[in-house]
Amino acid sequence: MLYGKKDQEQENYLEPVLGASAEDSSIPKYTLGRDPVDPRVAYRLVKDELLDEGNARQNLATFCQTYMEDEATRIMAETLEKNAIDKSEYPRTADLESRCVNILADLWNAPKDEEYMGTSTVGSSEACMLGGMAMKFKWRNNAEKLGLDIKAKKPNLVISSGYQVCWEKFCVYWDVEMRLVPMDEEHMSINVEKVLDYVDEYTIGIVGILGITYTGKFDDMKALDALVEEYNKQTDYKVYIHVDGASGSMFVPFINPELEWDFRLKNVISINTSGHKYGLVYPGIGWVVWRDKEYLPEELIFKVSYLGGEMPTMAINFSRSASQIIGQYYNFIRYGYEGYRTVHQKTKDVAMYLAKEVEKTGLFEIYNDGENMPIVCYKLKEDADVKWTLYDLADRLLMKGWQVPAYPLPESLQNIIIQRFVVRADFGHGMAEAFMEDFHGALKDLENAHILFYEKDEKGVHGFTH
Ligand SMILES: Cc1ncc(COP(=O)(O)O)c(C=O)c1O
Repeated sequence: MLYGKKDQEQENYLEPVLGASAEDSSIPKYTLGRDPVDPRVAYRLVKDELLDEGNARQNLATFCQTYMEDEATRIMAETLEKNAIDKSEYPRTADLESRCVNILADLWNAPKDEEYMGTSTVGSSEACMLGGMAMKFKWRNNAEKLGLDIKAKKPNLVISSGYQVCWEKFCVYWDVEMRLVPMDEEHMSINVEKVLDYVDEYTIGIVGILGITYTGKFDDMKALDALVEEYNKQTDYKVYIHVDGASGSMFVPFINPELEWDFRLKNVISINTSGHKYGLVYPGIGWVVWRDKEYLPEELIFKVSYLGGEMPTMAINFSRSASQIIGQYYNFIRYGYEGYRTVHQKTKDVAMYLAKEVEKTGLFEIYNDGENMPIVCYKLKEDADVKWTLYDLADRLLMKGWQVPAYPLPESLQNIIIQRFVVRADFGHGMAEAFMEDFHGALKDLENAHILFYEKDEKGVHGFTH
């Protein structure tokens, strides 16, 4: 029997991956290797590089989605090649994006008599950038009209000290002063009574946070709206509210639809969210919606070609895969309102169960018990008679694969060290019980430990907190 080339390739294919010659030699890590390697071997090499990275499902530090259904994953994998910016080449995809914006505007009660506009983004960070830019341009146009010397001072943005880092980035990148309303033990979200101390004619806007990253607490949007309403009656330098709902905007409409935080409030002009948090899509998708095009200055809109005509776009990036948008749309039709409500309710129940179990130990003071959002957050009680710290507890839990961060609260509360669990849809009750078993085991081990790693007054950040 004579073998042709094709058959030899076939034979190579039978070579076990772990015995392949490419596995023996060291492939350069920081320069390109000279020769290609078999795809099976390349796959295995890359996969193995990631082996000890931690199991995403056990990662209680992240808000980002770590599970999607097989059908969702399939449709996303099958559409990876579609470029979201090519509206002309992929008009159906563009239509799905537009449907998602409409669904969110409806969910956030955009008034029917105003012309809302919105777009997908890579995540909330990009969405916040766009929201912030729109506020800055709108402020500048108005200030110039009113004859303000806009060069005399930097424009400023008012936000609580519980801000997520994307707002600091926004202020640095766009040369805006960040004015922080400090939080304190009595005000673990924006202190509405203090907000106006920070507002002047150079204020581009106020950001309210629906789900402070550190603790999951909500800013009181209704009180903020009433404050702004009064303020705007007395000045031509109007200020408005952007809601950073990275985590809350796709949770609250299903679990607490009566809470007024969205476009029902007159002075809320834009809202962002992360589709990859409680929108239940894998990382890489965010959304921002303005209640009316009035709040989105024309200069920020760029046109791309679309079906022989033009379509307005606003984005920091250009090319990116449309698969995340398609994943979001899949979830919208797959779950519908009731589906999202059921999933989120279950997630909330799990969070509340965990908070109760933590509280029962008598060692911790709970800051968030999962009632508003599935975030559990606590500190060690002042009088807890233990030698270990939350950092030691985090280390112990990591031995069982659980990633649970411990970190100080932000400015003005930085002496308080907290620990936080973010509960996501894929963290079911069974997993929660298994986690609690390990949690109790960790406490017991720490009680008996001879060596503890951290000093009692340790203040560092342990684990990923965003
Ligand atoms: C309040 C808040 N804003 C913005 C972000 C940034 O979100 P993304 O990761 O989608 O960019 C986060 C992330 O945790 C957040 O909690």
